[in-house]
Amino acid sequence: MIPVLSVKNITKVYGTKKVVKNVSFSLYPGQIFGFVGPNGAGKSTTIRMITGLTLPTSGSIRICGYSITKSFKQAISNVGAVVEMPQLYPYLSGEKNLKLYAKFYGKAAVKRIPQIVKLVGMENRIKDKVSAYSLGMKQRLGIAQALLNKPKLLILDEPTNGLDPNGIVEMRNILKILAEKENITIIISSHNLAELEQTCDVIGLINNGSLIEYKTMAEIDKMIENEQKIQFLCNYPNYAAMLVKKKFKLMSKVVGNSILLPLKEKDIATVVSYLTNNKIKIYSIKKIQKTLEELYFELLNSTRSSSSIL
Ligand SMILES: Nc1ncnc2c1ncn2[C@@H]1O[C@H](COP(=O)(O)OP(=O)(O)O)[C@@H](O)[C@H]1O
Ligand SMILES: [Mg+2]
Repeated sequence: MIPVLSVKNITKVYGTKKVVKNVSFSLYPGQIFGFVGPNGAGKSTTIRMITGLTLPTSGSIRICGYSITKSFKQAISNVGAVVEMPQLYPYLSGEKNLKLYAKFYGKAAVKRIPQIVKLVGMENRIKDKVSAYSLGMKQRLGIAQALLNKPKLLILDEPTNGLDPNGIVEMRNILKILAEKENITIIISSHNLAELEQTCDVIGLINNGSLIEYKTMAEIDKMIENEQKIQFLCNYPNYAAMLVKKKFKLMSKVVGNSILLPLKEKDIATVVSYLTNNKIKIYSIKKIQKTLEELYFELLNSTRSSSSIL
């Protein structure tokens, strides 16, 4: 299958500064890609290269098989993008704004307007002036605008910036519908991973211009599970730690009146019965999991410390 987007070894140099370094990834139909990284990491620059707004210093970008540099027209005809704030006329209604834009793309796009309005859930407000819209409404209208040319790839650069929690949930639902029902591939960037983890199928973590992680949500869930610890609150934690080390070769950490063990759920019962048979009283058992946010900061910090060595 030809990827909807294929980015190969792209690098961008501004002056003497490499702001994007050798970034590569591919996206397939209906995938939602969360592009995450702190401010200044290189998200917008990467997105600007994908949308042809700026040229890569080296590397190649293909959209539905077309090179964004060599076959710009064919490549960009498959892309819809909202980069930061959508450009809208405030004194016109949402519908008029869409009609103005749709004219660039011809009659078919104008005809699609009611369907698009429905997709972004704006039926009730589309005849109101844009100046009366909330930020969330404006963002939705921006997405509607980006959908006019029936894109296979929709790119949203920090679309949740400034949205309230409700607006973020609405945005998330719209994107899921677009990916699932319309099979559109979506890139959504954010400096806040928590906003993306429920929406995305794939997460790319960028720091200092380098893509330091590129994983499916399933792989990330596995990573979190592998790092999970089981905490036993018990009467003699040091003795308990010694027992599990001897019997199961498990290294545990003693914290206060408890031990923390790297255990899978299926093995809990065995450990519990062994400890209780050896006069350890267990008062409570708790699963301790890292959140995705904690994992994210760990990854960022590990690349920070390694880059400071270089
Ligand atoms: N036109 C430009 N000229 C010089 N430096 C730039 C330009 N655009 C972005 N940068 C720099 O590139 C780095 C990455 O910026 P950007 O891609 O906007 O990051 P992000 O979107 O992840 O916050 C930053 O250090 C920024 O200052
Ligand atoms: Mg940015």
